[in-house]
Amino acid sequence: MHKEPIDKLVFLDFFAGAGLVELGMGPEWQCAWANDIDPKKAEVYAANFDPALYHLGDVANISANHLPSGADMAWASFPCQDLSLAGWRRGMSAERSGTFWAFWRIMRDLHDLDSMPPMLVLENVTGLLYGPEFAGLCEALAGLGLRFGAVVIDAKHFVPQSRPRVFLVAVDDRVDTAPFENAQPESSPWLPKSVWSAYLALPPALRARWTWWSLPVPTETVPDVGTRIESRPTAVEWHGSEQTARLLEMMTEVNLARIEQARKDGGRQVGLLYKRTRNGAQRAEIRFDGVAGCLRTPSGVSSRQTVVVVENGTVRSRLLTPREAARLMGVEDSFVLPSSYNQAYKAMGDAVVVPAVGWLSINLLTPLALSLCHRPYAPVVYDVSDRQAHRSISQVRASHWNDARLALAASSEYPGANNSAPSSTR
Ligand SMILES: C[S@@+](CC[C@H](N)C(=O)[O-])C[C@H]1O[C@@H](n2cnc3c(N)ncnc32)[C@H](O)[C@@H]1O
Repeated sequence: MHKEPIDKLVFLDFFAGAGLVELGMGPEWQCAWANDIDPKKAEVYAANFDPALYHLGDVANISANHLPSGADMAWASFPCQDLSLAGWRRGMSAERSGTFWAFWRIMRDLHDLDSMPPMLVLENVTGLLYGPEFAGLCEALAGLGLRFGAVVIDAKHFVPQSRPRVFLVAVDDRVDTAPFENAQPESSPWLPKSVWSAYLALPPALRARWTWWSLPVPTETVPDVGTRIESRPTAVEWHGSEQTARLLEMMTEVNLARIEQARKDGGRQVGLLYKRTRNGAQRAEIRFDGVAGCLRTPSGVSSRQTVVVVENGTVRSRLLTPREAARLMGVEDSFVLPSSYNQAYKAMGDAVVVPAVGWLSINLLTPLALSLCHRPYAPVVYDVSDRQAHRSISQVRASHWNDARLALAASSEYPGANNSAPSSTR
């Protein structure tokens, strides 16, 4: 029988937001379907990707037969507020509310239809690792016949933003995990204490399903946050001197000392300021270490970050622009942002960091998916500190991959056909 070559690996993007997972996965991957409940994010998605793929609405209303078949992976960046994951088997019903469970039910239905993607990725804040919720989540994955392991990737390895996020990568028994396992997990920077504690708190049956994923560490230096700052911002105005003075008044001695140090250091020093409530009082905290604090969604003014520039002895301040926020997420300037400040900032503050996803994709997810096509796995370590590097590396890989796929497609052993992903071998 003639087999059509497959061009791309295919994934489903749950809780897709502005579509940054799609940017990060790289050109080997094609998003076949995306879903989010937020119409404003759908607009951002439509301005940058194929809107026909985006299914606006509550994940709870999606049923398995709405989804394209044959995906290699399903990605779910479910809302971080939704950590109501505990007790899948502990006397609680699996028919729980919450977005994770809605996603899980769809996967269970696909599983029952023998068409669940062989790989699931769950992305969330590191709080996911704490408490009984994590065991509940692992139980739910085990219930789908999956093996799993978590890594914590801090985006500061790729962009000047401190943003640790947990990525739980789960695969079914079609995937031979052996070539991807870390022989020395104790020394991996992606496996901090929080991952070990979460693992050790699991019951033995779940620990038996755990995989310590192998993931290399980037070696390139990340440019200072100052390189991501617009020299002539149009989206925001510089604060007047009184407003800047008010911010300085909200600082503790330690933070004021940082401003003084920046004055002494001379030149142009760029710091990022964020407001926090400490002991009932609002405080302004500043850092000049070249890294921004974690971007948050702008539910209130205090969640926005402020750029502080100390130059020639003077201190100026203004809000971070949406474009700067996008740059801190590793998004190129060609990405279309909405004109509304809050809409744009929210689309970015809620999202994944593109090169962090790219790193995971190139070094783990893509090789895992390729291994399903019975292609020999050759681990390669890449330095990917920006999107451009990612793209050129991905293009090389994509062309190698297409050659390999054409060869595989010509072989009668190849399980996939008709531009779909490899079918189940179960
Ligand atoms: C952490 S964000 C994911 C962002 C996305 N991965 C990105 O990179 O832009 C979680 C998303 O879940 C969406 N969401 C919340 N409740 C939902 C629901 N019931 N159904 C579908 N999407 C939902 C939110 O609108 C938000 O965009």
